[in-house]
Amino acid sequence: MDKPIIILGIESSCDDTSAAIIKDGKKISNIIGSQKIHEKYGGVVPELASRAHLQNIIPVVNQAIKESRVKKNQISAVAFTRGPGLLGSLLVGVSFAKSFGLALNIPIIDVNHMHGHILAHFIKENDQKHNPPKFPFLCLTVSGGHTQIVKVNDYLDFDLIGETIDDAAGEAFDKSAKTLGMKYPGGPLIDKYAINGNPHAFKFGIPKVDGLNFSFSGLKTSILYFIQKKLKENPKFIKQNLDDICASIQFSIVKILIDKLEKASEQTQIKEIAIAGGVSANSGLRNRIKQMEKTHNWNTHIPPFSYCTDNAAMIAITGYYKYLNNEFCSQKITANPRLYI
Ligand code: KG4
Ligand code: ZN
Repeated sequence: MDKPIIILGIESSCDDTSAAIIKDGKKISNIIGSQKIHEKYGGVVPELASRAHLQNIIPVVNQAIKESRVKKNQISAVAFTRGPGLLGSLLVGVSFAKSFGLALNIPIIDVNHMHGHILAHFIKENDQKHNPPKFPFLCLTVSGGHTQIVKVNDYLDFDLIGETIDDAAGEAFDKSAKTLGMKYPGGPLIDKYAINGNPHAFKFGIPKVDGLNFSFSGLKTSILYFIQKKLKENPKFIKQNLDDICASIQFSIVKILIDKLEKASEQTQIKEIAIAGGVSANSGLRNRIKQMEKTHNWNTHIPPFSYCTDNAAMIAITGYYKYLNNEFCSQKITANPRLYI
């Protein structure tokens, strides 16, 4: 029997320190050390994030290897997030991966974080039926830093066909939540309150942007002005209407996303559709995508919650496909906070 391909993945692009082991495409372990410290600042503080990564990286990697029961000398390669992300955060993962590769005398593989989010769909789980997207498919990648529509031709062949011209969808969620006095990250909280609210209670403008690009900054400002005006009339406005406000905000963000995805599907004639990234955990988006299966004959792919937000299993699976393709990098590689897809 052939030797298994075992990839150690490292992710440290923002505020999660994560390490995972993927063996022949199957997840064996995936450890995520989240950083609570940013909650009180209303957003990720880069300096604090890199310091926390430094503290977390060794225990997180140790735990991922221990849980996997793989021996260090069985690891075939180390895959790490090269970018995009925060420079100080990326540097911790990149330096760790390079040193680990050097110490074990194994190859290292640089991974684009956005590729990772997309290829998370290909992670196999023990005992679970696996139904990954078929090529070519469209992937709406929505996170705290990015909003993209990507035409995925093959595991390592992508065309970016649309992206945000200003804020990301996750930012729109988080900044609206901040306006409502919620802690960071507010996206999951908006989702939570929206479940009991009326999505049509309040109307916010939907931006007109050419082609397949997105814009969220106008929506963010209109929500801010709306809340400020309402609070002047009634200081208890947020408290009394929280569910409806959240449902209306979520409705607008999801509508902007789905309208463009629908347009992309029409233009490319592709009905194989996936979502990825932190915002793909949003129940409003997940429900709308499922509806599109019925109304638009889409074949949709929604990642499990554990692979929506940042994790190293998605980096390891991308590393696995790059390994199969003999795509390794040199020890001279550096982090690239602005890496493009
Ligand atoms: O992919 P991710 O973990 O990190 C980045 O690469 O940015 O995405 C984080 C983003 C945050 O903006 C967070 O608020 C958002 O994903 N998010 C959600 C939900 N869960 C996470 N937004 C809306 N609804 C959710 N359930
Ligand atoms: Zn991400």
